[in-house]
Amino acid sequence: MAPVTSLASTVDQRIADALSAALPEAGSADPLLRRSDRADYQANGILALAKKLKGNPRELAAQVVSSLPATDSDGLIKEIEVSGPGFLNITVTDRAIIETLAARAADDRLGVPHAERTGTTAIDYAQPNVAKEMHVGHLRSAVIGAAMVEILEFMGEKVIRRHHIGDWGTQFGMLIQYLIEHPHELDHQSGDGGTGADTDAIDGETAMSNLNRLYKASRAVFDSDEEFKARSRDRVVALQAGEKETLDLWQRFVDESKIYFHSVFDKLDMEIQDPDIVGESGYNHMLEETCRILEETGVAVRSEGALCVFFDDVKGPDGNQVPLIVKKTNGGYGYAATDLSAIRDRVQNLRATTLLYVVDARQSLHFKMVFETARRAGWLNDEVKAVQLAFGTVLGKDGKPFKTREGETVRLEDLLDEAVERATAVVREKAEKAGLGEQEITENGRYVGIGAVKYADLSTSAVRDYKFDLDQMVSLHGDTSVYLQYAYARIQSILRKAGDAKAVAHPELTLAPAERALGLHVDQFGEVLAEVATGYEPHKLAAYLYQLASLYTTFYDQCHVLSDENAPELVENRLFLCDITARTLRQGLSLLGIRAPERL
Ligand code: ARG
Repeated sequence: MAPVTSLASTVDQRIADALSAALPEAGSADPLLRRSDRADYQANGILALAKKLKGNPRELAAQVVSSLPATDSDGLIKEIEVSGPGFLNITVTDRAIIETLAARAADDRLGVPHAERTGTTAIDYAQPNVAKEMHVGHLRSAVIGAAMVEILEFMGEKVIRRHHIGDWGTQFGMLIQYLIEHPHELDHQSGDGGTGADTDAIDGETAMSNLNRLYKASRAVFDSDEEFKARSRDRVVALQAGEKETLDLWQRFVDESKIYFHSVFDKLDMEIQDPDIVGESGYNHMLEETCRILEETGVAVRSEGALCVFFDDVKGPDGNQVPLIVKKTNGGYGYAATDLSAIRDRVQNLRATTLLYVVDARQSLHFKMVFETARRAGWLNDEVKAVQLAFGTVLGKDGKPFKTREGETVRLEDLLDEAVERATAVVREKAEKAGLGEQEITENGRYVGIGAVKYADLSTSAVRDYKFDLDQMVSLHGDTSVYLQYAYARIQSILRKAGDAKAVAHPELTLAPAERALGLHVDQFGEVLAEVATGYEPHKLAAYLYQLASLYTTFYDQCHVLSDENAPELVENRLFLCDITARTLRQGLSLLGIRAPERL
């Protein structure tokens, strides 16, 4: 067991250790501790233990109290009392709080330990579709996924990013065929005057509008011209057979789309690396084998000419089972075959121990069937698990799925531009007071605007639908990223004003209630991160940070930091609390992909 006075741990941990030492019968099971309004903590594990030992809980509680080291202001526990049927109410000393925080402040990671068990997580996120406009759902996957990547890596997990873009399928037959029959569209599309090179020269928006136009034009012909339709189908066959000209044209679509994707991700202040973009086409060479294995092992069976997997609990409205189709009657492979092949690749080649999918909840049935199939095939098992981090729908202010008035997908770039524009206005209002120049206003406007969009997405539980409301997102009041960013900037301003006074911990001082509350909350950062990483719940980190900023605001109102009336030690200790709060805020925001400007 860890030594009782281990300073690198948290106050929670130290109390749990002390209780375990006083209660050896409990074995390794730390008495359940939770924060309480009555005292700092309440331990309620004694009830269960008394039951197990067939004893009286209040007596057992009293016994624990008497075997704990004496309570005094120099030790860990200041007060402990038995309450109710056998709870322990525990108040820690001011010294313990500051001492513990000081030990953590000395560490770059703020004393946050790595997860006890780590492995390799392949995370499937930010997966838009080639030749199609990205929508708000793609934004959610990107934002939530990127946060999970950062959090898992911070906790010591090895993370492999996979952007499973939709770059394969029958629609490419139509697109490519159209391009072949309208070669001038190609000239126009690349904006290179027909030299056939240099797609890099165009920006993301141009790339997308080219693709959009082409998509609409080819769709129109496809729907009205039966012969074109037939030629498009043949083109799909040529594509799947890897015929050179067809494949080259397909590549042009992919490249052009990537220019667009990157422009959106750049706007989002998010790094997406080309080698991690392994789209559906990347598993093409595995599809046949995947189906063969599934059929040979009996996991999949032939049904009406298609290769299918059946599930007892997946039924249609008519009560008949609805299968997962891995190979269609016409011999074509679909979304499921690709995902099953991707699982084999991630497990067998990349050696991932966890597969995490940040995908819309509307695809949950698909993943449920895919994961179950993979389990039956033995690709997933007790050592290798797959999880869908499912997210809800983004709604407009009217509570309906977020669309333009014309019912079209809202252009992400416009949305992000608008967020930045509004945020810049908010920043500008306070710019003079904060001493910001034009360049900082622009930069901060971007950090605040993009931060607002990310935070809105991350601060509600992923699976819930949420309303996309820019007015609310950039508001200075309430649970927004701007509020957190202001709290951070305000602390930095105090630290700058402090001049020669330094942030130094003084465990000998008595703390004001607002200082204790702030300190104890700062101390829980590591525990919150551990919970967020195991449960894939970034909204709990957002909630933690919001609470941190709120407690800081109370502290700031009630405890003057740089007051002439304060003794030097008091100033130093308060600066210390300011500093560790700021570091925690910055680290937490950075894990969520949100920047914390020094001045705001
Ligand atoms: N491209 C898909 C879409 O836009 C998301 C892909 C999700 N990932 C996966 N492995 N199926 O809906």
